[in-house]
Amino acid sequence: MKRVVFAKIPSGTAGPVIKEIMGSGKVDLHAKISKDAEYRYVPILPEYVDELSARFEMVEGDAHTLDRRSPQERIRERLSGHPELLSQLPDKWEYVGDIVILKMDPGCYDQKEIIGRVYAEVLGAKTVCADIRGVSGEFRRPSMEVIYGTDTESVRLENGIRYGFDVTKVMFASGNTDERMRMRNLDCAGETVVDMFAGIGYFTLPLAKFSGARRVFACEKNPESYQFLVRNVRDNDVSDVVIPVLADNRDLLGRAFADRILMGYVQTTSDFLPAAMRMIKPGGIIHYHDTFYISEYRERIDSVFSANCEDYEVLGIREVKSFAPSVSHYVADVRVRPSRSRCSP
Ligand SMILES: C[S@@+](CC[C@H](N)C(=O)[O-])C[C@H]1O[C@@H](n2cnc3c(N)ncnc32)[C@H](O)[C@@H]1O
Repeated sequence: MKRVVFAKIPSGTAGPVIKEIMGSGKVDLHAKISKDAEYRYVPILPEYVDELSARFEMVEGDAHTLDRRSPQERIRERLSGHPELLSQLPDKWEYVGDIVILKMDPGCYDQKEIIGRVYAEVLGAKTVCADIRGVSGEFRRPSMEVIYGTDTESVRLENGIRYGFDVTKVMFASGNTDERMRMRNLDCAGETVVDMFAGIGYFTLPLAKFSGARRVFACEKNPESYQFLVRNVRDNDVSDVVIPVLADNRDLLGRAFADRILMGYVQTTSDFLPAAMRMIKPGGIIHYHDTFYISEYRERIDSVFSANCEDYEVLGIREVKSFAPSVSHYVADVRVRPSRSRCSP
């Protein structure tokens, strides 16, 4: 398999369109065209993706190549001269556009240059990074070492959104894909929304583009993430809806103006709930993220909300992803009626 970007072309018009883009040399001939009931998926060479995305929806995915062996098999064959490495080589990786991210066993670090080059060649990546220690700190900064190539900026295409960012500066939680999709599918017609932890626009962009929201205030404290947020708002054509704000969300001004608030942060989320209570309208909805022991998430959500507002209704709770043994990341959708006396910081 090979990671590529496909142009999604309706089957009814596919014949002449595919002929035309093949004739202009924009199709990746080492990857196979695939199809489902409604579309043909045509693999596009990376240098033509931007140009053709004005005409077709682009989706990322795996394409069959002419070589039927798996990339893992081909990587092992290429590194067979280093038998000491074979049992420690990563068998999984993540793509951000044409950048590959590996979780590398420390036992491989001495040979990281050759490992980086082989993964880049087999997987068709411009850059390979090793994820050393995951994310940390208030800004959730990644800890990445570049082991092949130099360009660490790319674009991740997901559900009709372009997320541009630098993988060495900003995190991207691939495990939150379903939640980003859920934000895209909300009906927020006419609403004013506040995203208190906007990052590069993880939730802001799908919600602003597809949910019908009137305004989204996207607040981000880290200047590096904020720069990408501003660029992504422009590149996804949502400048008329999204107002990026570089600030600590507790310093946002205003009272009772938001129909909906996104709190996409974990572990210290409750510290920010008083600010959310100040901004939410009576009857508004808060999407509250946090990590809890699996055995006690329901009681913990109740205790957080009962400490911060007088009247609330938990509309639903879903597990976003597993976080640690016996601990999961949850999101609770909570309709709140803040009381003036208890919710005014
Ligand atoms: C990385 S996101 C969390 C993950 C994200 N919800 C997702 O789906 O991948 C959290 C963001 O909140 C930002 N942040 C942390 N504290 C903040 C604060 N007090 N005000 C505004 N932004 C904050 C961080 O810089 C970071 O970009």
